[in-house]
Amino acid sequence: MTASRLQVVTGDITRLAVDAIVNAANESLLGGGGVDGAIHRAAGPDLLACCRRLGGCPTGQARLTPGFRLPARHVIHTVGPVWHGGGHGEADRLASCYRHCFRLADEHGIGSIAFPAISCGVYGYPPAAAARIAVTESRAALAANPRLERVLLVAFDEAMAALLRQAAGISET
Ligand code: APR
Repeated sequence: MTASRLQVVTGDITRLAVDAIVNAANESLLGGGGVDGAIHRAAGPDLLACCRRLGGCPTGQARLTPGFRLPARHVIHTVGPVWHGGGHGEADRLASCYRHCFRLADEHGIGSIAFPAISCGVYGYPPAAAARIAVTESRAALAANPRLERVLLVAFDEAMAALLRQAAGISET
């Protein structure tokens, strides 16, 4: 039942016209490289001004802003864990990111949401393990929230897309 509501797509998350895209930010919320840099460039300077007013965000939590010049209406900024070998609560903190994003989505009546592979770049989280968490938390949110129409797990490259499809049990076509 949830299969078609959970999709794996490859590409640039800043191009997606969904209700919300998720940003893999850092605790300052003041921008960075990777997907964070791409989102700030595409959204324009008003996003940074808005983020400044939020005063940061702890790891594992999330904050919502408008999307400004993005095709997406909102950005949900979350801060993934830095990978320190797996024995420092990384899995719980990564799952917490997804849960906080889905909670905000629910509170704001968001029907479609797109996630990048949180923590899988600079923060060094092993991608296959992160993919399994992304899929588990997305399925749980889809089951719990009937207003959530679509969850997109966005890979920037084919290797990440393959891991996400594998975790989701989606066969390649
Ligand atoms: N669209 C979709 N995915 C993207 C894009 C994009 N435009 N750009 C990068 N990615 C992918 C990367 O390939 C990686 O798989 O997003 C994933 C997350 O990588 P990072 O952006 O490095 O995020 P993360 O590992 O969570 O590290 C966060 O990076 O730039 C800083 O401010 C950010 O300090 C924070 C840290």
